Amino acid sequence: MNTTTYAFSFLILLSFLANVFSQTENSVSFVLSCGSVNSSTDSDGRVWDLDSKYLKSEDNSVPSKAQFQDPSLPSTIPYMNARIFTAEASYTFSVSPKQRHWVRLHFYPSSYSSLNATDAFFSVVAGGVTLLNNFSAYITAEALTQAYIVREFSLSPFPTGKLDLTFKPSDKHSGSFAFINGIEVIPMPELFHPAPVVGSVHQLIDAKLSNIQTMYRLNVGGNYIAPTNDSGLTRTWYDDSPYLFGANVGVTMDAEKNLTIRYKETPEYIAPIDVYSTSRSMGPEPEVNANANLTWVFQVDPNFMYVVRFHFCDLQMTKVNQRVFDIYLNNRTAQAQADVVLWAGSGGVPVYKDYAIYVTDAPGDDQLWVAMHPTVSARPEFYDALLNGLEIFKLNDSRGNLAGPNPVPSPMLVKAQAETPRAFAPSKSSLHARMIGGAAAAVGLLAAVCIVAYRRKKRGLGEDACRSGWLPLYGGSSRTSGSKSTISGKSTASSHLSTEAVSLCRHFSLAEIKKGTNNFDESEVIGVGGFGKVYKGVIDGNTMVAIKRANPSSDQGVHEFETEIEMLSKLRHRHLVSLIGYCEEENEMILVYDYMAFGTLREHLYKTNKDPLSWKKRLEICIGAARGLHYLHTGAKYTIIHRDVKTTNILLNEKWVAKVSDFGLSKTGPNLNHNQSHVSTVVKGSFGYLDPEYFRRQQLTEKSDVYSFGVVLFEVLCARPALNPSLPKEQVSLADWALHCQARGTLEDIIDPELKGKITPECLKKFAETAEKCLSDHGVDRPSMGDVLWNLEFALQLQENPDGVKPEKDEEKELQLGSHETNISIYQATLGLGDESDVSKQQSESMVFSQLINPKGR
Ligand SMILES: *[C@@H]1O[C@H](CO)[C@@H](O)[C@H](O)[C@H]1NC(C)=O
Ligand SMILES: *[C@@H]1O[C@H](CO)[C@@H](O)[C@H](O)[C@H]1NC(C)=O
Ligand SMILES: *[C@@H]1O[C@H](CO)[C@@H](O)[C@H](O)[C@H]1NC(C)=O
Ligand SMILES: *[C@@H]1O[C@H](CO)[C@@H](O)[C@H](O)[C@H]1NC(C)=O
Ligand SMILES: *[C@@H]1O[C@H](CO)[C@@H](O)[C@H](O)[C@H]1NC(C)=O
Ligand SMILES: *[C@@H]1O[C@H](CO)[C@@H](O)[C@H](O)[C@H]1NC(C)=O
Ligand SMILES: *[C@@H]1O[C@H](CO)[C@@H](O)[C@H](O)[C@H]1NC(C)=O
Ligand SMILES: *[C@@H]1O[C@H](CO)[C@@H](O)[C@H](O)[C@H]1NC(C)=O
Ligand SMILES: *[C@@H]1O[C@H](CO)[C@@H](O)[C@H](O)[C@H]1NC(C)=O
Ligand SMILES: *[C@@H]1O[C@H](CO)[C@@H](O)[C@H](O)[C@H]1NC(C)=O
Repeated sequence: MNTTTYAFSFLILLSFLANVFSQTENSVSFVLSCGSVNSSTDSDGRVWDLDSKYLKSEDNSVPSKAQFQDPSLPSTIPYMNARIFTAEASYTFSVSPKQRHWVRLHFYPSSYSSLNATDAFFSVVAGGVTLLNNFSAYITAEALTQAYIVREFSLSPFPTGKLDLTFKPSDKHSGSFAFINGIEVIPMPELFHPAPVVGSVHQLIDAKLSNIQTMYRLNVGGNYIAPTNDSGLTRTWYDDSPYLFGANVGVTMDAEKNLTIRYKETPEYIAPIDVYSTSRSMGPEPEVNANANLTWVFQVDPNFMYVVRFHFCDLQMTKVNQRVFDIYLNNRTAQAQADVVLWAGSGGVPVYKDYAIYVTDAPGDDQLWVAMHPTVSARPEFYDALLNGLEIFKLNDSRGNLAGPNPVPSPMLVKAQAETPRAFAPSKSSLHARMIGGAAAAVGLLAAVCIVAYRRKKRGLGEDACRSGWLPLYGGSSRTSGSKSTISGKSTASSHLSTEAVSLCRHFSLAEIKKGTNNFDESEVIGVGGFGKVYKGVIDGNTMVAIKRANPSSDQGVHEFETEIEMLSKLRHRHLVSLIGYCEEENEMILVYDYMAFGTLREHLYKTNKDPLSWKKRLEICIGAARGLHYLHTGAKYTIIHRDVKTTNILLNEKWVAKVSDFGLSKTGPNLNHNQSHVSTVVKGSFGYLDPEYFRRQQLTEKSDVYSFGVVLFEVLCARPALNPSLPKEQVSLADWALHCQARGTLEDIIDPELKGKITPECLKKFAETAEKCLSDHGVDRPSMGDVLWNLEFALQLQENPDGVKPEKDEEKELQLGSHETNISIYQATLGLGDESDVSKQQSESMVFSQLINPKGR
């Protein structure tokens, strides 16, 4: 979408909002930083006013400053100031009597002068509606592992034109007090209307008559949207991936560059265009979809009515009955045969649907399950489901109450907390924490900057963003081809491929490819990327292969196609996904690869119902991937920098052999003969794995891959995504969080629970140190891939043989543990560079080996 359209729609929105808000004179917003002495601006540029002039009386309250600044606070305003209430006290706001209002409360449970936030239990009542009761911001923050808490409410109009917001310390706890850091009271358009109740015929709930708390607001398949980027209502939208349940997480997609999203019936303020331009659907395999649900699970308070709002905008389909699905809430059908195009009238038009459901108090019933499944009986063209955005609102109960109980922290969290008490007062230990925190905050800031840059890139170069999700060359079963390339004499006349490439790589006829894929049957599609589609296919009667077919309109032209063949055909290694051959006929550009039966490494780590991998297997996979990368860096004539190392680009064959895939972004690095030590380039790669130095200086070295591989190592150890924007800020980036824990000696608390007690301490130490070194801020401080490989081999030895020095059965793997003296001939064997499939270059290997004998930085 171009800036003009954007600016234009923004103008429309402004004039619309101006209309809404001019209906009444008295529609003022209040954005207050409580306990501040003057108005100030937060890190997003919003201005926060002082609160004192709205207090009914300044008795019973004192302004105070937090004594400790948690590094994960997004901004000092409004969190570092607070107003403390030692007894009941109220604010009064004059508001429009006809409008609904957002009330947002910001809490930072810290210690304020001599008061300890653990003692703060209090209620908040707004115009007679209990928003919070016996509320402990401290317990809530601990349970959610967040430093601060924001609660958003949408309150019905106050006919008197006065909104009283009352804070009252609990009388059930001695020494209790109340506090508040920030208050927003903002007029809003009416967003609610009657919604059908799931499980009852014809019953409607009119949310318009209720006061409402926002529980979740998600940009499904998309990214975090800051309040300043909402469509005028200062809402925050989060990524949905943390709430996905099970292994069927579907696929996300972005609107094509040429697709304009047109708001018709749906007003633009309902949700910003960023919500509608990204989506999650089930994926391209109909047989899989027909037997699976796309499911999200949310924690909610029991004994309340909820309204669940689904935002849809079909970015692919244009006709009715192409994609038809059922929607379930808590295992009951909320909507049968949802057809977004039917509702919207066409593709690219936003619509939303509300359903209400009551969540009861049965044991374990404090969850809300949202699931989608293709309506097979309606015989749609595609067995698929779709979602662009999701909001979950809690409605007041019949007594006008909205308050739920304090959450209960998980036992694991309690244990972790007991071991590493969080310091409030600036003692020696918290000073230490603060120093580490400062560093984490700096990196966190960089992460935020990166998200923005990444988002911009995503908008600007949609194609590119697609590409990084490219090439899952895997599927259900069957054997992999042993890349037995036959040499074909009939290379096409038009081809500009070198004779070397032609001789290393098999040429397929289009007829063979068509036969192998059932004439490109859609049911054979196993992946889709910016380049085109990937099909599962069969050649030579029974050899399974992955067939990548360029989309004729793809940006990737003949030149890139031939570059890929040139490059890949020369790269043969047991730990690289092999290019078996290609087909260049009738304007088709087709590549044929190894078929990887066990899929990506990631799908064996988390959000999966596959069996957890043993630690030994994980180590072996890491070692295999490290070998592949080491080969790329040093084994070929030129240094090849992968540029997109991540767990979805490490594939597994049916024997659990790890192979590095997707050289789509690869870049040939500096020739070792030249003095230039980096390649200058536009930043590409996947966020969360991106080398900070590469990002800062736009300079690519093989150490950028080492950094990404360090993230992969922690991902394997902790079984969580590299980036999880829904977590508290300090934990969003796995790299930052793992380094932080490693520095504090608490890494063990964040490792995959499946691995608890199964890693020998020596092995864990070696592995973590290796990963940590990979994540060094400066490339020069990071080990080479050869060193990483050496250390991982060592870690494996320490796992199998923790006492060290004792030699293994396998004599080749004998190591002189505990000493840095190494024996070259041993490493030549263990590094596996002399593989049968390895077109290796001995001279560059010996360079690596000389690095190994001279192990600096270990
Ligand atoms: C706010 O007050 C503080 C201390 O009174 C002062 O240092 C600061 O400059 C003031 N800021 C503004 C924007 O007036
Ligand atoms: C809002 O979006 C714009 C454009 O996508 C981006 O430049 C800006 O940084 C975003 N603001 C925030 C606070 O994320
Ligand atoms: C947008 O481009 C894609 C391919 O690049 C094409 O399939 C689609 O039809 C185009 N859509 C519109 C609305 O032009
Ligand atoms: C829904 O069904 C799943 C199993 O299919 C079950 O695990 C879950 O607890 C159910 N959820 C509710 C809210 O009943
Ligand atoms: C999908 O979810 C619904 C509701 O929970 C359930 O009835 C159905 O069996 C599920 N289908 C699959 C394939 O899991
Ligand atoms: C919320 O409270 C209002 C009155 O304050 C009541 O009319 C409405 O029914 C309540 N909502 C629910 C879902 O009980
Ligand atoms: C208040 O909350 C605390 C912590 O959740 C709980 O232990 C206590 O029982 C609650 N008190 C009341 C009166 O509900
Ligand atoms: C706050 O109270 C908790 C629990 O009573 C205690 O562990 C902690 O040390 C206190 N913090 C300070 C700064 O007094
Ligand atoms: C590389 O740099 C060294 C010293 O700076 C110089 O002697 C050598 O000639 C350079 N080599 C090339 C290929 O430029
Ligand atoms: C390296 O190991 C081989 C066989 O294990 C042995 O013959 C050789 O002497 C060793 N070399 C050194 C330098 O230790």
